[in-house]
This record gives sequence, structure tokens and C-alpha cells, in this order.
Amino acid sequence: MDFKTDVLCIGAGYVGGPTMAVIADRCPHVKVTVVDVNAARIAAWNSDDLPIYEPGLDEVVRRARGRNLFFTTDVQAGIKAADIIFVSVNTPTKTFGEGAGRAADLQYWEKTAREILACADRDKIVVEKSTLPVRTAEAMERILNNNTRGLRFDVLSNPEFLAEGTAVADLENPDRVLVGSHETPEGLRARKAVVDIYTTWVPRERVIESNLWSSELTKLTANAFLAQRISSINSISALCERTEADVDQVAYAIGTDSRIGSRFLKASVGFGGSCFKKDILNLVYIAETYGLHEVAEYWESVVRMNEWQQTRFVRNMLANMFNTVAGKRIALLGFAFKADTGDTRESAAISVTRQLLADHARVVITDPKALDNARRDCAGFEGDLTFEPDPYRAAAGAHAIAVLTEWRLYKTLDYGRILDGMEKPAFIFDGRNILDHRTLFEMGFNVFPIGKRPLKHF
Ligand code: UDX
Ligand code: UDX
Repeated sequence: MDFKTDVLCIGAGYVGGPTMAVIADRCPHVKVTVVDVNAARIAAWNSDDLPIYEPGLDEVVRRARGRNLFFTTDVQAGIKAADIIFVSVNTPTKTFGEGAGRAADLQYWEKTAREILACADRDKIVVEKSTLPVRTAEAMERILNNNTRGLRFDVLSNPEFLAEGTAVADLENPDRVLVGSHETPEGLRARKAVVDIYTTWVPRERVIESNLWSSELTKLTANAFLAQRISSINSISALCERTEADVDQVAYAIGTDSRIGSRFLKASVGFGGSCFKKDILNLVYIAETYGLHEVAEYWESVVRMNEWQQTRFVRNMLANMFNTVAGKRIALLGFAFKADTGDTRESAAISVTRQLLADHARVVITDPKALDNARRDCAGFEGDLTFEPDPYRAAAGAHAIAVLTEWRLYKTLDYGRILDGMEKPAFIFDGRNILDHRTLFEMGFNVFPIGKRPLKHF
């Protein structure tokens, strides 16, 4: 079959995989190839057991795979054939050298740019899909266009705004798609080629065009604003616990102001995920680089508040369990950083587990999708730690349970049965405020929500 456009994506992760699957599904005229250096990951994309869990993703992949969606490890052939190359390799926070702990580690990006240059035999459009520090495109353009073969590379920015757990729905019906390019005739032509792909299914008015630097900065800013809302409401949750105000009531009431809006105001044990912390620290680093220390400090406090919320959660457990958890079995319900994903990157559960183990608790972790990742995250942890797929077995014999992920399943467990099997007094710490606290209290539990008065029998 003849395709109109040949698209390649380098990096078959949580972003690259679902994004390309939806593009292929919605654009039968576009051939989409996804490559990755990780052969096991590619094999999984080609199997019935996809490497990531996302509601609806199996069906999308099944419809397009083998028709116009291909997964392969042959990066070089992919680059040769492609008209448009999306780069979605990971850009973790640097762990070494200058900017360690804050700046983005761009080594995979640069390596990828050099590989594109080595394999290309005609002009290409290169699209940044990974979240990158502002002005990364400039460095990439220098590397790519510094060639003696007369090849031209147009570098574009097309950040991804999908959230995990709703990736397919977000891609199929996005609030907006953003495509940034240089505002030169060549840049605008390249921009149009990418815009044309999205407008196959996204209404034209939802496709926003901008210059390259605005596009790069928009992604960091969007994530910083979202995370800031969570840190803001979490800071208020601490105040609620002292003042008998109820954080859910406060959030609801402020959210009805159309200028504030109701979403992303759910107090929690703390935000996680691969993006929020990394992107804010990136913003902080860039601000510092330009000598904007107040700006850097302002955004850094969003991350600090999030870390404090996680620590506060464990301190609260300790304080209420008579200042000791040593030898006590504590069941953690949920390890994923949010519901409907198996992803555990930066999950608050990691820090909660570490802190409880440091206090010599016997920790048992349960989660419907994230146990394999949880095992990997906790590989180096010392202490009494077990993993149990069945929540009832996890809770059996526990002194306390703590809800760390808002899985729907945890709302409908038989808490009477759970209470029967627990040590008394039995404690529930609801790090997501998803349970019916009054009913649990009346059953006999001591209940500690976030940002609300605790309900206790002693
Ligand atoms: C990643 C980044 O973390 C994020 O900043 C960015 O916005 C999008 O890409 P994600 O898809 O969640 O997000 O990352 P990950 O699941 O780690 O996928 C990256 C993939 O790139 C991995 O499968 C990795 O094997 C692959 N990769 C990495 C390459 O194929 N080549 C490389 O040189 C480096
Ligand atoms: C986020 C952005 O939403 C998305 O646009 C971007 O592309 C990537 O980063 P993601 O990290 O996948 O997506 O999930 P998100 O739904 O934003 O949740 C992030 C974290 O915040 C989770 O741990 C979640 O539980 C927490 N959260 C979210 C809250 O604690 N309270 C809220 O009100 C909302």
C-alpha cells in the first residue's frame, strides 16, 4: 500500500507508544513506525501483552498494527524511510555534574539527533515530543544542520499533554494540540505538515501554532501550573486538619468560581508521575541560569510542598499509632502514582514505603496493576517488605491500612471483612479521600483522611 506520509517515532514509552498508536488509528494514509533501543519493549508492543497499561489502548493497537502501525528495533531503516521523525526518548533529571538534581539529562536526545544525522539521506522534519528545556531545539538544529551533505532538518516542538490512565481519550479528544516552529517559510511549511496530521481528527481550532520557544516553554508551564494547584490545595489540607475545616468542602467551594475551576484541586498524599517534578525542576534550573532567582524559588516551593505532604502523611500515621510502627504490619493499598496505570514513577508510595520501613514497620504493598514496578522500585529497600496482589490478604493481620492510589476497587472492598481480620485498634489512613469515612468509623475503624478532622474511638 502507498502511504502519503511516513512518520517515525523514536522511543516507544508511555508517550511515544500511545501517541503513535492513535495517529496510526486515525490516519490510515500515514505509515507510522515506532522504534526503540529496548528490544524487549518492542517485542511487547508486537504481542498481546502491551508493555504499558492504558484503558482502550489494546483495541487501538489491534486495529492499526500491521496495517499502518509498526514496531521495530531497526532505528536506522526507520530514519531513512521517514519524512517526519518524532523524538520521544526519555529526558530524566540529571543525576551527575552541573545541574545534577535539576537540569534535564539530554544525552539520549543528543545521541538520537546524531543518529538521525548519520542515517538520513534526504531532508527531514524532526519533532520534539519529549519535554525539553527551552531552547533545546536550537542545539538540536545546530547538530543536525551542521552537515556537509546539504541536508536540511527543520526542528519543531509538539509537546504531549496526555495524562496517564486517560492517554487514549486525551489523544483522541485533546483540549489542544500545540505545534511550534520557526516562523520562516521553511519552518512554516514543516509546521503545516505536522498540523495536517493532527487535523485529520482534531478540530482545526484546537490546533494551536506558535514559535518554537513558546511551544517548549508552554509544556513546562502547563505542568508547573497543574502541579502548583495540587501543592496549593495540599498546603490548605494541613491547615484544615488543624482548624476543623474540610478540604474537600473548601476545594468544592473555591472550584465553583469559574476563574479558579474545579479540576486538579483534589488533596492527596502528594503528586507523582514522571513529569511534574522533573518539569518544575527544569523550569527552576532555567530560571536560575538566567539569574531569575525569585522565579526559581517560587516554583521550587511547589516541589518542596509536595515532599512535605508525603513526609507529613507518614508522621501523621506515626503520631496516631502511639508514636511507633515498629513491628506493626501496615498494608498500602495502591502503589501506582495515580489510578488506571501501572506506572509508579515518582509515586508518593515510594517515599511512604521508605519512611515506614525506616521506622521498622512491616510493610505489605498491594496494587492491581503496579506490583511489578513496585518490586523494582523497592529492590534496594531494607526491611520487612512483601507484595500481595489480593487486598484482603494484604490487610489480614494489619494494624493499619493506607490508601495511596485512588483505584475504584478500593472504594468497594468489604471493609467489614477487612476489619475482622485486622489488629485492634484498626487504623485507616486515606491518602486519597476516596472512602466513606463516617461508615468506616461507625464500623469500628479509626479513620484519618487528608485535610479533614480524624474520626477516632479513643
Ligand atoms: C519520555 C520522557 O520521560 C518525557 O520527558 C517526554 O515528555 C516523553 O518521553 P515516557 O514515554 O514516559 O516519557 O518515557 P519512557 O517510557 O522512559 O520512554 C522512553 C523510551 O525511549 C524508552 O522505551 C527507551 O528505551 C527509549 N529510548 C531511550 C530509545 O529508544 N533510545 C534512546 O537513546 C533512549
Ligand atoms: C501530567 C499532566 O496532567 C499531563 O498533561 C502531562 O502531559 C504529563 O503530566 P500525568 O502525570 O500522567 O499527567 O497525570 P496527572 O493526572 O496529571 O496526575 C499527576 C499526579 O497528580 C498524580 O499523582 C495524581 O494522583 C496527582 N493529582 C492529580 C492529585 O494529587 N490531585 C489532583 O487534583 C490531580
